[in-house]
Amino acid sequence: LSQLPLSGKTVTITAGPTYEAIDPVRFIGNHSSGQMGFELADQALKLGAMVNLITGPTHLKLTHSHLKRFDVVSAQDMFEAATANFENSHIVIAAAAVSDYKPKTQYDQKLKKSEDSLRIDLEPTPDILKHLGTLKTHQILVGFALETQNEEEHAKAKLKKKNLDFIVLNSLNDKEAGFKKETNKIKIITNSEIIRFEAKPKAEVAKDILDHLLKIKD
Ligand code: C5P
Repeated sequence: LSQLPLSGKTVTITAGPTYEAIDPVRFIGNHSSGQMGFELADQALKLGAMVNLITGPTHLKLTHSHLKRFDVVSAQDMFEAATANFENSHIVIAAAAVSDYKPKTQYDQKLKKSEDSLRIDLEPTPDILKHLGTLKTHQILVGFALETQNEEEHAKAKLKKKNLDFIVLNSLNDKEAGFKKETNKIKIITNSEIIRFEAKPKAEVAKDILDHLLKIKD
């Protein structure tokens, strides 16, 4: 029986947006579709891995006997699921677009409309990936970055700050990259090199990312 490259390895992936509740019917969120994370999960499964897919709200579907899916809503939920799965993971890829802020107060009842202006105070959510970087022992840790200026410089700083093995940079300035797009154009940034890729469908981008992972794993 042929052994696949990630047989016996556990890959944990965060995907999608997070929703931060304002009241029972409203939230702060973003336009992430979750597609990049789901394509990464699909590729990792094809390479023989056991996959934990921790995803914020999305309509995407994926089923496989080696897939464990954790549906979460808020950054705090995602933080808990990612932390719980970290120790047993060989590879962790943070592809989620985590909301950076959440309302300080969550109202139990739906906020009533009035003529007055409304102010909602926000506080930061936990940085999941940064926390995983502090827990890292044997894991390969991969993050994403989406920058609008000085992108390579900012991505390199993030690589260090979050204790990552590499970071996948996609630029919002690029019309073929980003949220709600079928294609993505990436650079893989490590401590020692920058690898540039052409724009391509997200499934192929996922393949490029996993190929790089296979190169650096023991
Ligand atoms: O710092 P920044 O949000 O630009 O970093 C992006 C990377 O960090 C992504 O891999 C994203 O999934 C991860 N992240 C996270 N938790 C947060 C914010 C970002 O895991 N609260």
